[in-house]
Amino acid sequence: MKREDVIVSEAQILEQKEFINKIRTINVARSSKPMAYVVTYGCQQNENDSERIRGMLCEAGYDFCNDAKDADIIIYNTCAVREHAELKVYGNLGALKALKRKKPELIIGVCGCMMQQEHVAKRIKQKYTHVDIIFGTHTLYTLPQLIYNVLDTHERSINVIDAHGYIAEDMPIRREGDVLAYVSVMYGCNNFCSYCIVPYVRGRERSRSCEDIIREVREVASEGYKEVMLLGQNVNSYGNDLDEEIDFSDLLVRVCEVEGIERIRFMTSHPKDFNEKLIETIASNKKICNQLHLPLQAGSDDVLLKMNRKYTSGDYIKKVQAVRKRIPDITLTTDIIVGFPTETNEDFEKTIDVLKEVRFDSIYSFIYSKRTGTPAAKLEMALDDAQIHKNFDRLLEVQNEISKQINDSYIGRICDVLVEGRSKTDDNVVSGRTEGGKIVHIKDADESLKGKIVRVKITAAKTWFLTGEIVPN
Ligand code: 5AD
Ligand code: SF4
Repeated sequence: MKREDVIVSEAQILEQKEFINKIRTINVARSSKPMAYVVTYGCQQNENDSERIRGMLCEAGYDFCNDAKDADIIIYNTCAVREHAELKVYGNLGALKALKRKKPELIIGVCGCMMQQEHVAKRIKQKYTHVDIIFGTHTLYTLPQLIYNVLDTHERSINVIDAHGYIAEDMPIRREGDVLAYVSVMYGCNNFCSYCIVPYVRGRERSRSCEDIIREVREVASEGYKEVMLLGQNVNSYGNDLDEEIDFSDLLVRVCEVEGIERIRFMTSHPKDFNEKLIETIASNKKICNQLHLPLQAGSDDVLLKMNRKYTSGDYIKKVQAVRKRIPDITLTTDIIVGFPTETNEDFEKTIDVLKEVRFDSIYSFIYSKRTGTPAAKLEMALDDAQIHKNFDRLLEVQNEISKQINDSYIGRICDVLVEGRSKTDDNVVSGRTEGGKIVHIKDADESLKGKIVRVKITAAKTWFLTGEIVPN
C-alpha cells in the first residue's frame, strides 16, 4: 500500500466539513435542537470511532440523548467479532421500525465492522428498509455527506467500500470521559488469526504518523486529560508501514514527553511481536503503566497452530517470565477463546494449565463464534455446545479464584489511584484505577478528586475490584 493511497486528502476532509456546515445550517433553523443517539458495540477502537461520529454530529448541530425515542438521528456502530453482538444489532434495528413509522423524519444509520461484510450490508439493504444510512469502517469520515444526502433528497444514502483502508486525520471528535482519552495509533490488522474477522472488516495495518499522534496527545493534555490509552489491533507492528524509522517503543517514549499526561496505557499487543525493547521501555518510563494485555487465546500448541497465532504456549510463558523478571509488579490480562473448532477436552486442559501457571490478574473469555469467510469456519467442531459451555464455566471458576487471591493480596497495600469520577451506585464513593488498571472504589471521598492521583490504602478486595481509603501524602 502506498502512503498517498492510504491518507484521505485534505481536500476530501474539507469537503466533509462543508457538509457539516450545510447540516448545521439546516439544524439551527429547526424550532428545537435536534438530538442524536449513538450506540456502540465492540472494542475500544469502535468506541473511539463513535467519538469521531459524535464529534461530527456535534459540529453539525446535534445534541445527544440516551433514548432512541428522543432522537432525530440514531447511529448504530456495530461489531462483527462474534455472532452474539450481530444478533443484538438485528434485533434492535428491527425494533426501530415502529419508531420510524411514528416519526418518519427520524434518520437511522448503521455503520462499523458488520457493514464491511457483504452479506450483512446486503441483508440490511434488503430487509431493513427503514435504515437510511449504511456505511463501513473505511468510509466513516463521509458521514456528514451521507446525512446531508438524506436531509436533501429523502433517499437512502449508502457508502460501503471494500478497501485496504484509509487514515482520515483532523475530523472532529467528542470524547466520552474527561480523565482517560483513547488515541488510535494504527488501524487494521495483518495477522489473519484463523477465527478472526477483523482483518477482513478493518483492512490492512496502517500507522498514523508519529507527528499526528503526538499532536492529538498534546491536544488531550491541554484539555485536561491525564491518561491516554493508545489503541491498535496489534500495536507492536506500529511503524512497519511508515517511511520514518520508528517502532512502538520509540512512539511510547515520544508520548511520555508530552507534559500533562501522567499515565500511558496501550492495547493490544500480539505475543509473537512483543519484544525485549518494549519491556525495557515500559520498565524505564514512569508514565507507562505497569499493565499488559497479552492475548493468549489458547493453551494447546495444536490449537494455537490451527489458530495461526505463530507462538507456542512455551513461547508465551517465556515472554511472561521475561516481563515479570524486569517488571515484577506488572498487571497481566489476557483473552481466551473456548471451543475453537479443533479444541478437544485435552486441549482445553492445557489452557487451564497455562492459567494456573501464569496467574493472570483477569481474563476476557469468549466462546468461539464461527465467522463466515474466515479459515476456521471450514473446520469440523470437536466438541458439542454443552461441553463447550461446561469448559467455559470451569475456565471462569478457575480464573475467578486466581483473580480473588491476587486482589486479596492487595489488602493493606497503598496504591496510587487516578480518580475517574463518582461511583454509579454510591454518592459518597469515587472510583479510579491503580497503575495496573485495577478498579478501586474509594470511600468517603468527593468528586473534586477527579483527575487527581491519590494515595489509597486498600481495605477490601473482590474478584473484580478493590475498595480503599485515602491516606494523606
Ligand atoms: N470467536 C470468539 N472470540 C473471538 N475473538 C476474536 N474472534 C473471535 C471469534 N470468532 C476474541 C479474541 C480476541 C478478542 C478481541 O475477541 O480473543 O483477542
Ligand atoms: Fe484478530 Fe488476530 Fe488481528 Fe487480533 S491479531 S485482530 S485476533 S486477526
